[in-house]
Amino acid sequence: MPFRERYTGLINKYRDRLPISDDTRVISLGEGNTPLIRLNNIPRMLEKNVDIYVKYEGLNPTGSFKDRGMTLAVTKAVEEGSNAIICASTGNTSAAAAAYAARAGITAFVLIPDGKIAMGKLAQAIMHGAVVVQIKGNFDEGMQLVKEIGKEVPVTIVNSINPYRLQGQKTAAFEIVEELECAPDYHCLPVGNAGNISAHWMGYCEYFEHGIVNNRPKMLGYQAAGAAPFLRKEMVDNPETVATAIRIGHPQSWDKAWNAQTDSNGWFDECSDELILETQALLAKREGIFCEPASAASLAGCIRDVKSGKIPEGNKIVCTLTGHGLKDPDTAIRQASTEILTVNANLAEVKKAIMNNMG
Ligand code: F0G
Repeated sequence: MPFRERYTGLINKYRDRLPISDDTRVISLGEGNTPLIRLNNIPRMLEKNVDIYVKYEGLNPTGSFKDRGMTLAVTKAVEEGSNAIICASTGNTSAAAAAYAARAGITAFVLIPDGKIAMGKLAQAIMHGAVVVQIKGNFDEGMQLVKEIGKEVPVTIVNSINPYRLQGQKTAAFEIVEELECAPDYHCLPVGNAGNISAHWMGYCEYFEHGIVNNRPKMLGYQAAGAAPFLRKEMVDNPETVATAIRIGHPQSWDKAWNAQTDSNGWFDECSDELILETQALLAKREGIFCEPASAASLAGCIRDVKSGKIPEGNKIVCTLTGHGLKDPDTAIRQASTEILTVNANLAEVKKAIMNNMG
């Protein structure tokens, strides 16, 4: 059997479609190429004839889709001679920025909302040696500060206002098309700062315009109810949700995301925190896939819209699971519905605990 060509990350795979030259030093951790998993048990429970796939972006090197954009943003920052990058973050961007900066040998400054990021994400920023600045404010305030700092200090901003971020992230759409041999009919994403939905739409449009595929999905953006500016049709000043990754009220890619929704004939909708957590648990228990709360918003919205018939039967749906469940163990354990059994370390007690729970 011939050996498979070694996968070395999405820049090398898609270099013809990215702003890269042969001389560019690529900063990569092998990101991309994430599994597209077809759900079995949930569609059966719904008793609906739909094909639901999840794109498990939590399996990127730092555990979220942010690595797709960060590999390119950091590669270009280094190419342009930058020695430092900065971002505001609800946690995943800062984890990715910290890791890719470490790989490149440059400094990462990360502004995070004090007390409002998941523990795993904070651990990542610290372990990768980022300069962590906790601000007594939310993501939107941090983002505003980063934009101002960018004008005064020689640092490269690697939030998704950096155009290379979206260029890198569009490759998720390429991978989906290549695997399904068509675009899905619907693509569901959680929406926070709104970069990812915009990047996916860019990717689908690029393949469509180049004749690689002859259809494009309807783009469905789901927000947490307490942080849903696209639903309110205006910015939200005090966003709140248990899904801290998308606790954002002033999305930077507002126009791009609106256009993705309008041009694709898709829609935005909101999910309550309860529904988000319920869906996170459902996916973990019924399909063996652990995503973080924000990620579950895509599947939560999808399931609701399939149940109601808003997404009709006979369709192929992709839900992006943006981040790994291990990012936020606290929220997972806090909502756990299964009791942890504590027994003495002897055969009789262990056996009893098992026999009592043989389903
Ligand atoms: N899901 C997760 C797990 C995220 O971390 C984010 C954004 C989103 C969804 C929303 O994506 O912003 O492109 O609409 N996290 C950013 C961060 C804001 O700082 O890590 P978006």
